[in-house]
Amino acid sequence: MRSLSGTQPTGRLHLGNYFGAIRQYLKLQEEGYECFYFIANYHALTSLRDKAALEEVTLHVATGYLALGVDPSRSVFFLQSDVPQVTELCWLLNCICPVSMMEKGTSYKDKVARGLPASMGLLDYPVLQAADIVIYDSDVVPVGADQKQHIEMTRDLAGRFNREVGAKVLKLPEPYIIPDVAVVPGIDGQKMSKSYNNTIELFQTRKATEKTCMQIVTDSAPLEAPKEPDRCNVYALLKLMASPQEIEEIAEKYRAGGYGYGQAKKRLAELINEQFAAARDRYTELEKDPDYVRDVMKTGGRRARQVAEATMERVRLACGIVTNR
Ligand code: TRP
Repeated sequence: MRSLSGTQPTGRLHLGNYFGAIRQYLKLQEEGYECFYFIANYHALTSLRDKAALEEVTLHVATGYLALGVDPSRSVFFLQSDVPQVTELCWLLNCICPVSMMEKGTSYKDKVARGLPASMGLLDYPVLQAADIVIYDSDVVPVGADQKQHIEMTRDLAGRFNREVGAKVLKLPEPYIIPDVAVVPGIDGQKMSKSYNNTIELFQTRKATEKTCMQIVTDSAPLEAPKEPDRCNVYALLKLMASPQEIEEIAEKYRAGGYGYGQAKKRLAELINEQFAAARDRYTELEKDPDYVRDVMKTGGRRARQVAEATMERVRLACGIVTNR
């Protein structure tokens, strides 16, 4: 079984990335799936138009994933742009994709509503994503709940393509979403996302983590007051980090009163600092050797290209595209 997923290099890695995606990537890697994980730098261009920032964040995400445990001896880890076949397939899928399907994209409509220019790239984003997925014959796609529609579009497009050419050329993937951790709240209570500026970064100092946690928005109930844990952002984040037993105890303290939000925030920061201490150390080491990181990506890219090219030979043949390479 093959697992595939991509991450846009648009900002520094945060807890939302970890719980929404990376944790699932690692789980599938542990379970022995054949994993293809890549950095979606072509996708990032639809929203990030700053050359230096794109380069920097691309290396940051690559380094971060390796530090967190993506293991290049087991998983194929690479850059989207090292597989030009994917933009070729995107074109072929574009030719069968109704414009109306893309105009219904909730992520597209969201981004435009937030002020991103409605470029062809932004509209076409899900088709490029579909190409990413089907080009590696992927079985499962671990993603956050917000990507569900993109996976449905992928299945739709692959099905259309197969019907049109009258053969099962492309495999239809399944999404892999863990429902209760799929949405991670940010420090303002909205979904944690770089575009809302509400993230808790994974790779920052212990002090900076504490500072960010202290900024989590809560109501203004005084220290003595009993509090409802399920309405609190700090508690929602603690639920992701603390053991079931500890979370039980914290819930009781909330309800009993005399336990302040400040204490909860401190505990949250501690838990984050503990859980990511080893990854942060590895990150610091890897950061000193960016050539190693680039080498790993290069090797992954070579393997990914082989698989992609094999799919494209089938695809070109199926739709009458003649090449003379
Ligand atoms: N759209 C995904 C996100 O923002 C990133 C992505 C690009 C992706 N291509 C993919 C995810 C292919 C899974 C499979 O999270």
